[in-house]
Amino acid sequence: MKIFAHRGYSAKYPENTLAAFEAAAQLPIHGVELDVHLTKDRKLVVIHDESIKRTSNGKGYVKDLTLEQLREYDFGSWFSEEFAGEKIPTLHEVLNVFKETHHRINIELKTDVFIYPMLEELVLKEVASFQYEDRVILSSFDHEAVGKIARLAPDIENAPIFSTMVLNVADYQKTIPAKALHVSLTSAVRSPVLNAIQRGSVVRVWTVNKVEKLDVLKEIGVDGIFTDEPEKMMEYMSSWDE
Ligand code: G3P
Ligand code: MG
Repeated sequence: MKIFAHRGYSAKYPENTLAAFEAAAQLPIHGVELDVHLTKDRKLVVIHDESIKRTSNGKGYVKDLTLEQLREYDFGSWFSEEFAGEKIPTLHEVLNVFKETHHRINIELKTDVFIYPMLEELVLKEVASFQYEDRVILSSFDHEAVGKIARLAPDIENAPIFSTMVLNVADYQKTIPAKALHVSLTSAVRSPVLNAIQRGSVVRVWTVNKVEKLDVLKEIGVDGIFTDEPEKMMEYMSSWDE
């Protein structure tokens, strides 16, 4: 089962910062996950929330601030003083961290609350500039955005994310059409997902931070997990090979 470091190595480093991605890049895991929003001046930045309040010393929505304004804030000290001065990264800066590694990169398009016109095109352009087409997975809770990715870039791996499950999810997957399904931990063991896995769907599960959950996910055939604790998961999974 593949491990993706969720928002970078977010248990030990401030989420979605270069520090968190640089730490994840040192680990022999399959990949990383990150969240992307658009600034007022249409730059792609990596942050989870629509607002900067929770993860910085500033406030306001990303969509109402320019990149220059966002760069004035500290995105590290909310987590620990050790990371004071950490800036909000651009998507370009995060992708650059993985230039010399083989990690897969799951870019989550955060169009859940606000609509960011042309977000899909801008993300695809950035991915192409690194020639990462075969390394990225583009996902979103906004399935319209996933459908747009599927049309614009049919060869790139895409995945709708589900907070609650839908019945006949494998049939629904074909309507997008999606290459994988990203489901919550609670949905993973319910019958629609089990049926989808049996019908050949690639399923990844968010967010798994307890090792006690791993055996059952492996048994049902989950392809990968998103976790804030990649080292803890690696250590537990290493016993599977013994
Ligand atoms: O992409 C999987 C997971 O990150 C979705 O939830 O809220 O952590 O972005 P969230
Ligand atoms: Mg995410």
